[in-house]
Amino acid sequence: MMAGILTGLVGNDAHGTPMALERGKAVVVFFSWSPDGNMRFAAETIARRLSAEVFEIRAAKPYSSDFRTCTREARPECQAKTLRPIQPLKGLDLGKHEVVFVGTPNWWGTMAPPVRTWVTQNREGLKGKAVCVFQTHGGGGMQRVGRDFAELLPESTVLPPAAFLGASVRSGVRELERFVEERIAVRGTD
Ligand SMILES: Cc1cc2nc3c(=O)[nH]c(=O)nc-3n(C[C@H](O)[C@H](O)[C@H](O)COP(=O)(O)O)c2cc1C
Repeated sequence: MMAGILTGLVGNDAHGTPMALERGKAVVVFFSWSPDGNMRFAAETIARRLSAEVFEIRAAKPYSSDFRTCTREARPECQAKTLRPIQPLKGLDLGKHEVVFVGTPNWWGTMAPPVRTWVTQNREGLKGKAVCVFQTHGGGGMQRVGRDFAELLPESTVLPPAAFLGASVRSGVRELERFVEERIAVRGTD
């Protein structure tokens, strides 16, 4: 089923045959921090294209709402790959899904720590599944985000990840939809 899909590539092009999927077999999980909600917008747009449910990862103790304070707080966590505690994701049954889209803002070149926590806690549930990584960034692009997911999930098929510039994500709906269409063809939604 995964034939034709390349693993671990970094870039926005899938260069493969989209994976055919029944409706309801994909789910979207994301974390977003800023009041602009760039990743929230991307995740909701992608979920709509997939007719999928969407779940938000939240830190147990929220980060400061002040940008500078948040970046100072997050830096050592990102560098040390700290597993910041998160709230439980109520109602998500990974067993029902074949493809899991995971969205994170780029924080210090990698995934935001609450995303690292969720992925780490769910490695078993993600085993053997396709994981579709997407991120929004402030100009740095993909950096280590895709690689770090692939490293955390050696027993999942990490599909080619994509990076979207946060500031222009709202004018890039078509790009977000294309990201989905190049990887997944949901039966009955086209
Ligand atoms: C703590 C923190 C660290 C960040 N580090 C990076 C970075 O290393 N590279 C980058 O391109 N953008 C960085 N950004 C910018 C965010 O990735 C970007 O604004 C993203 O679109 C925010 O998504 P959100 O609105 O869903 O929170 C950082 C933002 C924060 C708050």
